[in-house]
Amino acid sequence: MSGKEKKKSGKESSDRGRGSISRREFTIGSIAAIGAGSTAGSIRGTAAPSQPVDESAPREVIAPPVSEAARTIKLTVNEWEYALRVEPEWVLRDVLRDQLGLLSIKDMCNGHGACGSCTVIIDGRPVLSCMTLAIECDGVTIETAEHVAAVKPELIEGYVLNHAMQCGYCTPGFVVTAKALIDRIPKPTEKDIRNALGGNICRCGTYPQHILAVREATTGEIQVEGGMD
Ligand code: FES
Ligand code: FES
Repeated sequence: MSGKEKKKSGKESSDRGRGSISRREFTIGSIAAIGAGSTAGSIRGTAAPSQPVDESAPREVIAPPVSEAARTIKLTVNEWEYALRVEPEWVLRDVLRDQLGLLSIKDMCNGHGACGSCTVIIDGRPVLSCMTLAIECDGVTIETAEHVAAVKPELIEGYVLNHAMQCGYCTPGFVVTAKALIDRIPKPTEKDIRNALGGNICRCGTYPQHILAVREATTGEIQVEGGMD
């Protein structure tokens, strides 16, 4: 039994809940909002973010008109393989959003590389997709927040239970950056977390809560008693 489970069992009656909706139920709803909910279902059809690569599965892509300068790149995105036609000047953020419908990828700085809200994981490293040309990404493996929500629910739970979002606009970028950190350092220190998340900006000022969220996700220890009460 984890430390978190032990602590919860002693204080289960509060359920860290609000009214008739428990925090866990709220968390599950939030995971859906960050993950599957922000994936354009009409574009991806039956594609599930955590499903392994399957060449026979139906995958729909919105293919915009391109010029003769366009090239084909192959990407693995959230465990799905794609071949996309891209213009030389197109940035990865726009390709992932517009062609694959991955709407968790945001833009808080007009693509100036200053906010981190467009962060995706490329071959294990957090990368600003607004500063990355899609045409240079041939052959890479990409993870977005939709996939993180599917494979790391404890991280999303940590975010919800520790109030690490207000408007939520910056949240996918933080979550993706935190996931890359945890993959590299499963038990990060506070300093590790601060260093990793230092490039992500939150206009709502939720910074201290991100430390707690990642700590709870990686240690299993409740950081904020009472939580959403
Ligand atoms: S949109 Fe701000 S860093 Fe990419
Ligand atoms: S929660 Fe609003 S910008 Fe971060």
